[in-house]
Amino acid sequence: MSHASLSYSIIRMQPDDWERVRPVRLRALADTPDAFGSTLAREEAFGETDWRERLNGDDRITFLATTKAGDDVGLIGSAPYDGHAGLFSMWVAPEARGVGVGGALVDAVVAWAESQGHAKVLLDVGDNNAPAIALYASKRFEPNGIAGTLPPPRDHITEHQRELIL
Ligand SMILES: CC(C)(COP(=O)(O)OP(=O)(O)OC[C@H]1O[C@@H](n2cnc3c(N)ncnc32)[C@H](O)[C@@H]1OP(=O)(O)O)[C@@H](O)C(=O)NCCC(=O)NCCS
Repeated sequence: MSHASLSYSIIRMQPDDWERVRPVRLRALADTPDAFGSTLAREEAFGETDWRERLNGDDRITFLATTKAGDDVGLIGSAPYDGHAGLFSMWVAPEARGVGVGGALVDAVVAWAESQGHAKVLLDVGDNNAPAIALYASKRFEPNGIAGTLPPPRDHITEHQRELIL
């Protein structure tokens, strides 16, 4: 895939890639803590087994976006969520935003979910996270009426669920 200012690829990560995924995920949690249910402190404490577990299994998938220059600039994952495919961990590095990387990562998860026979892709997004809401809306994810908050002590951050019917 390419854009006037950035050439990149979307690649599937396997358990043996855990040391490549770890710094990207930790950078995401440090960069945008309130966009995620998990925290930097929690995942900094993860060991090899935790990282491998997240990357292992037929019911889940992780994709990385990597530039032609070899910089890893985006991450997304899917895992089971209420009997459907959940979309999690969406993040694009600030220096690579606005050129389609996020859209390409969403497309990769949606194509994978479809290939697995899922009927829906579900995600939660912060009510004030305008860039993410715009991205998901552009990919036809619609609010499904379910609302919630991040876990305490961040329960002042409200979020809503969106779904894409496949
Ligand atoms: C949300 C995020 C993933 C978007 O990634 P991105 O690579 O910049 O998105 P894209 O360039 O693929 O944009 C796709 C569409 O999303 C929308 N969009 C993305 N960023 C936007 C912004 N800042 N303002 C308005 N719309 C935006 C646009 O509709 C865009 O389509 P267009 O370029 O045709 O107008 C990125 O801003 C990010 O990582 N944010 C921090 C982490 C986060 O909030 N994750 C989501 C957790 S639910």
